[in-house]
Amino acid sequence: MSVTALPSAPVSVLLKGATQEAHTRAETTAFVTDLMAGRLSIAAFTALAAQHQAIYAALEDLGRRVAGEPGADALVRPELERTAVLAEDLRTLTGGGEAPPVLASTEEYVHRLRTLDDLAGYAAHAYTRYLGDLSGGQAIKRMMQRHYGMGEDGLAFYTFTQIAKIPPYKAAYRTALDELPLDQGGRERLVAEARAAFRYNEAVFVELGRQFRPAA
Ligand code: HEM
Repeated sequence: MSVTALPSAPVSVLLKGATQEAHTRAETTAFVTDLMAGRLSIAAFTALAAQHQAIYAALEDLGRRVAGEPGADALVRPELERTAVLAEDLRTLTGGGEAPPVLASTEEYVHRLRTLDDLAGYAAHAYTRYLGDLSGGQAIKRMMQRHYGMGEDGLAFYTFTQIAKIPPYKAAYRTALDELPLDQGGRERLVAEARAAFRYNEAVFVELGRQFRPAA
């Protein structure tokens, strides 16, 4: 669905439509499907957490840069912040050792986040990551517990302790996106940046997939 085809549709509807194919691609990369099916290892998950740490540090810095803009309060939310819990997860997962390296694809994603300084750009990346964590992320957590014998430790990233009920929270977040004071150009920018955000995420999975393959 193009933005120009439906100029008056709520931005959350445009976002969902514009990223649907990219979502399917990300969700069906070998790394994600192998991890979810129990064919990889906690080491592979640890490598993913290390990528997340770099990405969320940059995303949450961007959130602080745009925090004063009208409409930002409803999107830049302390209950979503993941940087501190990721550090805790990585400490658990590595036993206090060195974290796995940040990959080239992650560096590119982080670079993109560090060049942005507008609320539409933040909204695009926050939508892609946080609504993803509150959706498929919950399934990833369950699969890590089921297939790799994990409990709660190491999975704090997927546990939003300050969000009592995820479905109404996601609905409210979509409403906040819809209420952003954006003109048509801003809406188009937001949707284009969300597509880019999905591409960055897919590239990280592809690179992780080259490093981690199921045992033969
Ligand atoms: C294990 C892989 C994944 C599974 C099983 C999965 C599953 C889902 C499901 C079932 C929903 C719909 C939830 C709802 O409407 O309440 C959803 C939404 C979403 N997912 Fe994923 N997902 C996965 C990976 C990803 C990835 C890698 C990203 C992006 C980095 C992502 C981003 C999103 C976003 C942004 C939404 C919200 C869509 C919207 O309602 O506008 N997901 N996911």
